[in-house]
Amino acid sequence: MQWAAVVAASPLLSAVDDPERAYGLTRAAAAIPPVAINLELVTLTETSAVVTWFTGDPTRPDSMGRFAPVPADTEVLLGTSPANLRPAFHDATPTPYHYAELTGLEPGQTYFWVARSGGVPAVPTPSAYGSPIGTSAPGAGLSGPFVFTTPDPPPGRFLFAIALCNDIHMGETVAGLATTQAGIGIPPGIMQVPGEPPYTEIMASALGPEARARGANLLLAAGDVSSEAGSSDVHHAKAHLDAFGAYGSSYLVARGNHDRPHTGAAAAVCRPASGAAGYHDCFGDVFFPTGATWFSHEAYGLRLVGLDTYDKIGNGGDNGVMSDAQFAFVRDVLAKDKDQPTLVFGHHPVTLESDLTTVGKPLGFDLDPQQAMQLEQLYAATPGVFLHHAGHTHRNKRTESTTAKNVVFQEVAAVKEYPGGFHLLRVFTGGYALNFYKFRPSLAQEWSERSRPEYGGLSPFYVFGNTADRNSVVARDLSGLQSAAAAANVSGAKATTGATAEGANAGRGARGSVLPETGVDSRNELAGAAALAAGFAAERWLRYASRGSGASVSNS
Ligand SMILES: [Fe+2]
Repeated sequence: MQWAAVVAASPLLSAVDDPERAYGLTRAAAAIPPVAINLELVTLTETSAVVTWFTGDPTRPDSMGRFAPVPADTEVLLGTSPANLRPAFHDATPTPYHYAELTGLEPGQTYFWVARSGGVPAVPTPSAYGSPIGTSAPGAGLSGPFVFTTPDPPPGRFLFAIALCNDIHMGETVAGLATTQAGIGIPPGIMQVPGEPPYTEIMASALGPEARARGANLLLAAGDVSSEAGSSDVHHAKAHLDAFGAYGSSYLVARGNHDRPHTGAAAAVCRPASGAAGYHDCFGDVFFPTGATWFSHEAYGLRLVGLDTYDKIGNGGDNGVMSDAQFAFVRDVLAKDKDQPTLVFGHHPVTLESDLTTVGKPLGFDLDPQQAMQLEQLYAATPGVFLHHAGHTHRNKRTESTTAKNVVFQEVAAVKEYPGGFHLLRVFTGGYALNFYKFRPSLAQEWSERSRPEYGGLSPFYVFGNTADRNSVVARDLSGLQSAAAAANVSGAKATTGATAEGANAGRGARGSVLPETGVDSRNELAGAAALAAGFAAERWLRYASRGSGASVSNS
């Protein structure tokens, strides 16, 4: 969408309220014990669960109703019967932003649980869309015990993992304007606390290290890496993605509507967009300097197809579209080996179910309806396609197509705001698991909580998604794929797939881009721990730098 235009027309952006909102500056004694709220079961795998909540002072709300943060301890009680809950997690370090990871769980087991701070039970975030705190309805009262059941693992042997992410919006300084009404500024946008690092910086710097630490061998970024595709913002987004690994082999990027060719000074140094005087394509310059902005790539035997769903000149607020040349390329790539396991990713969602459940959108928002239908027909004729990853809606949402019945269409919440994180796709010989992880650094948790009131307060209903939108397991024959470990040992991963499509696409070529091969980097796993350490070091630096210099959070 065209945030810049909306910002200009919005007189009532959230003024910031109180320097005490800053994470490290919460010092004032609360008049009453803190309340523990916004409890969420974020991640649920076959052997682990991540739950988060917030402690605050209800006597000190800000202009958006957020309570002043109050640090407290983090405790979770867990048991296989509600009458027998035992301490399963306790961290005495006081924090307003609670993140408890429960490990060592049994697959296929029902657990009862309670989260507490200062002995006070945490209450779930308000949501009427599925349960935010388990795999069953609350039912047991606001303070629990709540219930979740771990899934059985996908069949077979673990092969490799891919982090799915989107919507970094590097350079953006006001969040939540997607539903703001131009001219009246309601609901208002949300800005960072003065003195804190820019939120896009915080969230983007968490991405690479955390994806590595969770075991991702590859990372796919499905568009909107930048706010408005200025040269420095696109380069800056790439620098954060580079923290994960090498572009083109460890991570791949698709264009979003925000990354489209722009006019204006910030983009003027970049290459001219073909066929549009005055427009410059910084995204193309940085990520596809020599070829088309769509591609196929092979890793561990898996075919990855990256779409450019804003393959045109426009204002970004309309339907996504692929050029005829790009569509022909996709058709030819998928025709090569129809049974090869295939994951497609692109920015704009595809299914009618997605379109019908998207709130606050203009008339045109998802992929062009006719192209969406053609793409689903193509998937239906290509049995190897099993997953389509999209962004754009900034929500966790799993939809299905009535045409491509064997494909899961997974929308992933934004990196840059509540809930703030990524999906981890774990591939096994007999299926796959998808799990959403929130970013763990305290500054990221702080911004996640601060940006929670987006969508007029409906984010927990709409953006967070239900348990299945965040966590799912699918049985499917993927036995032809290779493991990351085996690929690292034998350097056996196939080189990138070249395009076969012919046709006119002046200036960029009709062939998809050629990217380096994947799967020969045996340092990936070792890099994970180092990257996580580097991430926390960076967070400390950001905190120090922002406080010490009094630097503005504004990137403008
Ligand atoms: Fe978008």
